[in-house]
Amino acid sequence: MTARARPVVAIDGPAGAGKSTVTHVVAERLGYLLVDTGAIYRTVALAAERRHVSWDDGDGVAALAAALVAREAIRLERTANGGQRVLLEGDDVSTAIRSLPMGQGASKVSAIPGVRQALLELQRAAGRAGGVVLEGRDIGTVVFPDAEAKFFLTASIEVRAKRRHDELSARGQTSSLSEVLSEVAERDRRDSSRPVAPLKQAADALVVDSSGLTISEVADRIVDEVRRVERRLSEKAAGARG
Ligand code: DC
Repeated sequence: MTARARPVVAIDGPAGAGKSTVTHVVAERLGYLLVDTGAIYRTVALAAERRHVSWDDGDGVAALAAALVAREAIRLERTANGGQRVLLEGDDVSTAIRSLPMGQGASKVSAIPGVRQALLELQRAAGRAGGVVLEGRDIGTVVFPDAEAKFFLTASIEVRAKRRHDELSARGQTSSLSEVLSEVAERDRRDSSRPVAPLKQAADALVVDSSGLTISEVADRIVDEVRRVERRLSEKAAGARG
């Protein structure tokens, strides 16, 4: 593997830990590309729904995911404000994939080994060059075990459910806090107990508990650490040049 000039930054953690917002801020501050990998799983869930393939049909969804990747039907684009837009067959699905049902669907389809396999190369291609922040569940453990900067972002389940609830309300979706709490608990259970690439912290990840911190404070910690890694990489590169 050739050494990267700028690191791959992996940010993993459970639903509602603040990953999306923090990742956005971090990518913007660093001037790095942002890759939200959950959006890719959500897009597969949406594609399955549109084609009437049940999320419980492992072989069907895996075949669909492989076909979508082969046809380059899932595309990630950068928006003007540094965010990410997701296209499915050329159709902008960035908003459609954010619903509560698509979160459940993504959690289900992401437990299918063939789906994870199909999406692996897509994620690696998006990050390989470095200078990128990838957000997900298994970035530091499976997708980029060699990422130079790994973070595991977490928060208490109450805090995470409250944040999810506020986020959904802001989008005009009506679910009670207790509904969201059980949805988050259900997803935690499923994401952590699946046999393939379960949500778990990489041994070399820096754990950041965001329960009592602001977005900006969390982002500061991550950015400071990435800057340290950048310095180390450039010293190493200078050393290698002699
Ligand atoms: O981060 P999110 O809520 O958009 O993720 C949706 C689902 O996708 C979540 O239940 C877990 C799954 N996921 C995954 O298994 N691996 C990833 N790298 C990202 C998301």
